[in-house]
Amino acid sequence: MYSATQIRDLPGLIGQTVTVYGWVATTRPKGKIAFTVLRDGTGYLQCVAVKQELGEQAWETVHQLTQETSLAVTGEVREDKRSPGGVELGVQSLTILGGSTDFPISKKEHGTAFLFEQRHLWLRSRRQVAIMRIRNEVVQAIRDFYYQRDFTLVDTPLLTGAVGESAGTLFETEYFDLGKAYLAQTGQLYVEAAAAALGKVYCFGPTFRAERSKTRRHLTEFWMVEPEVAWNDSDDNMKLQEDFVSYVVERCLERCREPLEVLERDRTRLEQVTPPFPRVSYTDAIEKLKQAGCDVRWGQDLGGDDETTLAQMFDRPVFVYDYPREVKAFYMKQNPEDPRTVKCNDCLAPEGYGEIIGGSQREDDHDLLLGRIREEGLPEEAYGWYLDLRRYGTFIHSGFGLGVERTVAWISGVPHVREVIAFPRMMTRLYP
Ligand code: 4AD
Ligand code: MG
Repeated sequence: MYSATQIRDLPGLIGQTVTVYGWVATTRPKGKIAFTVLRDGTGYLQCVAVKQELGEQAWETVHQLTQETSLAVTGEVREDKRSPGGVELGVQSLTILGGSTDFPISKKEHGTAFLFEQRHLWLRSRRQVAIMRIRNEVVQAIRDFYYQRDFTLVDTPLLTGAVGESAGTLFETEYFDLGKAYLAQTGQLYVEAAAAALGKVYCFGPTFRAERSKTRRHLTEFWMVEPEVAWNDSDDNMKLQEDFVSYVVERCLERCREPLEVLERDRTRLEQVTPPFPRVSYTDAIEKLKQAGCDVRWGQDLGGDDETTLAQMFDRPVFVYDYPREVKAFYMKQNPEDPRTVKCNDCLAPEGYGEIIGGSQREDDHDLLLGRIREEGLPEEAYGWYLDLRRYGTFIHSGFGLGVERTVAWISGVPHVREVIAFPRMMTRLYP
């Protein structure tokens, strides 16, 4: 069926007879005429069957159609200004390929718990298809951005022996005679090694966090892209981030017009996403939040609500930089101007979506890094190779991680990250 006609191509085929394969979205027999809307993943097509023009048997088949029946339908493509794609199909013949009795998801409102239990079927809905298309564009834009800028993709392991981000949120498994292995929380430590070989690199894959969070921003398995650049400092790092995020948003605006419309996304908010992004130091952010009436203290991490409040003060994503070292990971570079803080930044998306990027300049001083590993009680022997990068030609370098689901949720205007990945993994969900 490689050559089957796709619904999206029909406007260019007016007057021709074609065969389309798809599933029934809705069907309405009305006396001597029946209207069936077919979907094939590329679009929706109104098929018009007229009793007089069809044989007895075909007319009977039309009456057997139910929601999600799969079928092949042959007919003439006709112009119809009122239809979504500007065309409809005048049915000449049809074959049912797979029946569908009592499809569990109907037009009526369903609860979220039910829909996630039916996720494998729910994916077929107009809204879910729109979200998946935007995700696809985001992923492709990410790959194109780095390819065009001569970054080398380096695939990093998903089974690791060292803690990447935080010891508290590890999935672990027995690993033959070598003890415990962990599912990667990040590929960062490995791309740091690769940056010393190739200069500009990135990894892109799934990462795992056994986070006991049930917020709309957390999954236990999510996708992250992590660029790492030799000789970039924290400032350069933020410049790369704002160019990158703006590019991804622009690509979606350009190429996802229809899915954004289906989701009723306000495009004007996305059109504002251009560099430079505002930059606020952590210390200033605390002051701003206090003025806004938030209960925050210097030294604490920002909570989800604080991030939302702060982001609302700006019309585009905002960088918060130089956080206190206590609230950030061990590998971040101590700030020479204020050793209480580290050279890092988060990028907060507007409209309540919170942190989409965490990034930093890396500690390039061997002894300071070893000190931090000891302070955190991390097993030194697992970090021998990582410390080697500071023993053999240490170098200024920076990088960041952008969470794909949070980014797609923001661009799509979908409130919860669980809806922007086909089969979400959460504390309370492993099925389907
Ligand atoms: O801030 P994080 O933890 O940073 C890192 O992992 C660094 N190693 C990245 C780097 O410097 N190479 O995570 C980065 C991003 C967050 O900003 C967020 O977008 C996403 O990953 N993220 C999650 N997304 C969904 N569910 C979760 N549980 C997430 N945890 C982080
Ligand atoms: Mg973070």
